[in-house]
Amino acid sequence: MTQPLSAAAAEELVRRHAVQGATLMTILHAIQDETGFVPPEVVQPLARVLTLSRAEVHGTITYYHHFRSAPPARITVQLCRAEACRSMGTEALKDHIEGHTGCRFDSGHAEDTELESVYCLGQCALSPSMTINGEIHAKVTPQKFDRLYDAAKDKSEVTA
Ligand code: FES
Repeated sequence: MTQPLSAAAAEELVRRHAVQGATLMTILHAIQDETGFVPPEVVQPLARVLTLSRAEVHGTITYYHHFRSAPPARITVQLCRAEACRSMGTEALKDHIEGHTGCRFDSGHAEDTELESVYCLGQCALSPSMTINGEIHAKVTPQKFDRLYDAAKDKSEVTA
């Protein structure tokens, strides 16, 4: 369970990224890049600094699937389920991944893994495509996934 940010820490986080010319989107990206998610405590200082309503800031964070309001799992798998990848067997791969990890797609994170569906990673010619902890992988087979996932799991246990 993550501790909430103090008001002072939230103010400092926003101050560091709300530089001249920064937009709400660029600040949200910068905060998420730094902390792994957008802590809810930054909504109020962001709204004040950008002269927006808290509802506008909150609405932007929740509208874009990319932004997280809670820390990510230790291993995040994003599987492309758009047309090109579907034509190359991504749905069978999805079933395999769920079996291998014991997790379900798009249902939050259980244990230390989160499985997310995404719709095109810009690697259509190399389908099926996925990311594991932000690193893109192409022409993924069930065997390749097992290797990549198990390596990510070993790495996360080493760094935990
Ligand atoms: S459809 Fe899967 S990467 Fe484009």
